[in-house]
Amino acid sequence: MRKNIIAGNWKMNKTVEEAVELANAIKLELADCKDVDVVLCPPFTALKAVSDVISETLINVGSQNMSSEDEGAYTGEISHTMLKELFVRYVILGHSERREYYKETDFWINKKVKKALDKNLRPILCVGEKLEDREAGSTESVVEVQVREGLKDIPVSAYTELVIAYEPVWAIGTGKTATSEQAQEVHAFIRSIVKDMVGAEAADAVRIQYGGSMKPGNAPELLAQPDIDGGLIGGAALDATSFAGIVKAGM
Ligand code: PGA
Repeated sequence: MRKNIIAGNWKMNKTVEEAVELANAIKLELADCKDVDVVLCPPFTALKAVSDVISETLINVGSQNMSSEDEGAYTGEISHTMLKELFVRYVILGHSERREYYKETDFWINKKVKKALDKNLRPILCVGEKLEDREAGSTESVVEVQVREGLKDIPVSAYTELVIAYEPVWAIGTGKTATSEQAQEVHAFIRSIVKDMVGAEAADAVRIQYGGSMKPGNAPELLAQPDIDGGLIGGAALDATSFAGIVKAGM
């Protein structure tokens, strides 16, 4: 049985003060949540403050990116050591906004996934097709390349740690959610790719989140699908009540 994992991707929102307020409100609702893994991913500047707020709870902290390098002359980058010092457990990698606006490629994303695993951080690898891909009937081929390249040379033992997030780009921040059937279809497809890559046991164990306009209203149906093991939440994660509502739907 896979445990649902619900992560809030706060993106470039929340000053430290605002982040503390939001984390405190989420803590009131979810401090003892055992049935679902809960992860808060604030911007780098608020990681320390959010870690402090949730330190005595079962809530985890994640970052929204990480350097593929250990240290040195990489202006503007943040390393695994710096993240772990702030009690970060998860790292979102290859989000579509980073692929699109910062030209991150599968090659670099794979380097980051490997580095994260090597340093005992849990990657959340994001994959997903754009609207034009879906309309051209290439959803599966696009997602397959992202999964195969992003997880290239990852040992089979890591599949219990890493998380895949299927996020159709056309559903992110648009209010358009994939229907639960559309999402389930791609999730099952991703699981079949993992099976082909590393075998049935790892494919059964790996958790695959859905992301893209997930809200308390549509979460129960999405999370009821056999291959959907949680959510990566953007907009609705900025409000404690809606985020908690989604987590509760996953219990
Ligand atoms: P959204 O974002 O929930 O606002 O669509 C999801 C994401 O980008 O991770």
